[in-house]
This record gives sequence, structure tokens and C-alpha cells, in this order.
Amino acid sequence: MGIQGIFILSIETSCDDTCIALYDSAYGMRANIVCTQESIHNSYGGIVPKIAQQQHVLALESVIAYVLYTLKTYVQCIFSIIYTNGPGLYNSLFTGFKIAKKLSCILRIPCYAVNHIEGHIYSTYIGRECFIKYPFCALVISGGHTLLVMVLRSKKCILMGTTLDDSVGEVFDKVARLLGFGYPGGPCIELVSSFGGIGMYSFYRLLFLQHSFNFSFSGIKTLVRNVVESSLLTSTNIAGIAMNFQESIISTLCVICTRLITYTNVRVLTITGGVSSNMELHKKLSMVTTVFTLYPCGTCSGDNAGMLVLIPYVAFFGKCLH
Ligand code: KG4
Ligand code: ZN
Repeated sequence: MGIQGIFILSIETSCDDTCIALYDSAYGMRANIVCTQESIHNSYGGIVPKIAQQQHVLALESVIAYVLYTLKTYVQCIFSIIYTNGPGLYNSLFTGFKIAKKLSCILRIPCYAVNHIEGHIYSTYIGRECFIKYPFCALVISGGHTLLVMVLRSKKCILMGTTLDDSVGEVFDKVARLLGFGYPGGPCIELVSSFGGIGMYSFYRLLFLQHSFNFSFSGIKTLVRNVVESSLLTSTNIAGIAMNFQESIISTLCVICTRLITYTNVRVLTITGGVSSNMELHKKLSMVTTVFTLYPCGTCSGDNAGMLVLIPYVAFFGKCLH
């Protein structure tokens, strides 16, 4: 494929994944690479910020070179650079910022900072060419964030609710650790849950006053810890705990989302972030809500650099790219 359009290089290093994307205005997203550090952090039971930064330093230049080489694209063809400037781990963000600035100076091209959460919000539109219908509600659920946002238009969001303690992904990871699984815990819990029996344990959902859209998950985590510490951890028990824990988290998310949908009367709910790949959540949400639910395609639910390219694009053209 020849070089036809304008190329945008996107760099996302807010947490533990080194992510590089290359967008071509003529052909769409040509590459959206996630170089994961999961196996490195796995033995620590969670992300170690210092190691995350070191791994970004080691990987960044070679991942960029790999993307350009495999797409037979010269670095001089890049028209602009986009990078995440937060929220995230300071040192990881700084590593991405440094390489973005370095390339921008060498190539004499502009370099734009974008917000990581805004990227997650629009990640549902990667690979879908359509006009975005505002307003919509966005549930962002990952290891670092749990947010319920009302998106009125591009660059105009209202934070409706957030977690008062742990994020959803964090509580999945902590409970997974209690049950003897590695990092990331969410996929392990989801898998093991399919062997568990409902009603074996009961972990309540903590809900707040009628008009609150905030979440709280640490109470559920404490209940799980108490059960784990007072039970014999057989494989049946582990599956039962995992299943009932997951059920409890998902029903909390469903209750708050339906509450917001009723309150705002929106027609579309987007669900993004690593936890949004949980299939039980898809099933339960489709049963309890009447709105149109949109999830990111393929692997775009977690951190990726492709989602950042959509932010300026949506702001300029009001629609998504292909
Ligand atoms: O968005 P993400 O890749 O990175 C952050 O920005 O944190 O999210 C990672 C989080 C982890 O906490 C992981 O346990 C959780 O998403 N996760 C899941 C599932 N897949 C990933 N949680 C529940 N069910 C899953 N299938
Ligand atoms: Zn994220």
C-alpha cells in the first residue's frame, strides 16, 4: 500500500502498557499496537510504577520503529504526534511526553497532549465510521478509573459519578490476589466464575442515596476477604466466591447506570476501560437497560493509542474515523 494520506502517530503510556498507533487519513487506523507488561507485573500482584516506567523506556523507540517498518512508512511522513498527558502514573506519562517532544523537535511537526479518559470515552468508536449522537452516557471502568460521565458534545462532559474508594478493576485485582490469582485479576475471576454456583455466598451491593451516581466497592472486597480468611479454599469455594463477587460488582454497576439513564433520559450508554470486556457485564446490562449499549471493538477496551487519535478528529469533524 503506498503512502497516501496524512499520518498521525499516537503514543499512550499512562500506565503499564506501551501503546503506539498510526493513523492514516486515507486508510484509517493502520496500526494500534499494545506492548503489554502484564507478565512482568504479574509476579508483584499489581503494577509497580518504577518498573512500568523502565519498561516504557526500553520499549518505546523499538515499538515506534516496528510500526513504521512493518507499514513501510518513513518517519518523515508523520504529520503530527498525539500523546497522553494524564491522568496516569507520573513517570510513565513523562516517558511518553519525552519521546513525543523529541520526535516533534527532530521532525519539526506539532505535538498535542490529550486526556486519557477522553480517549477511553471515544474508544467505542474505533473501527466504526459514524456520526456521534450527543448526548450520551459513558461508563469508564478500568484499573485506574471508575467514572460515569454525561457527554453533551465534544469537549463538554459532566462527571456524574465516581468511586468513593477502589476502582472496579482494582477491586477485581485485589480479590483475585486473595484467591491466589496473578495480575490482571479480572480475566481470571471471569473465567473461574463460570464454574461457580450462584447463592453460595452473598456479598451485598453498597448503594447510595436515591440521586447519587457514586460507587463504592471496598465493602464488597472486605466481605470477600472475611470469607476467604474463614473458609477452606477448595476449587469449588474459589469458583463460588469469584462468581458471587463478580455478580455483586456487576449488579452495582447496573443499578447505578440504570439510575443515571432514568434520570437523564439518554438513549446511548458506552462502556469502556479494561473491565468493559467482561461478558457477564454485557449480558446483565443488556437485560436491565433499554438503551443502546456500545462497547469498544476487539482489544480496544483496555488502554491503547488508537483511542487518542479520535479526540481531535471528533472535535474537528464531529464524526468518527474509519
Ligand atoms: O483499561 P485497562 O487495560 O488499564 C487501566 O487503565 O487500568 O484496565 C485493566 C483492568 C485490570 O484491573 C483488569 O483486572 C481489568 O481491567 N479487567 C477485567 C477484565 N479484563 C480486564 N475486569 C473484569 N473482567 C474482565 N474480563
Ligand atoms: Zn485507561
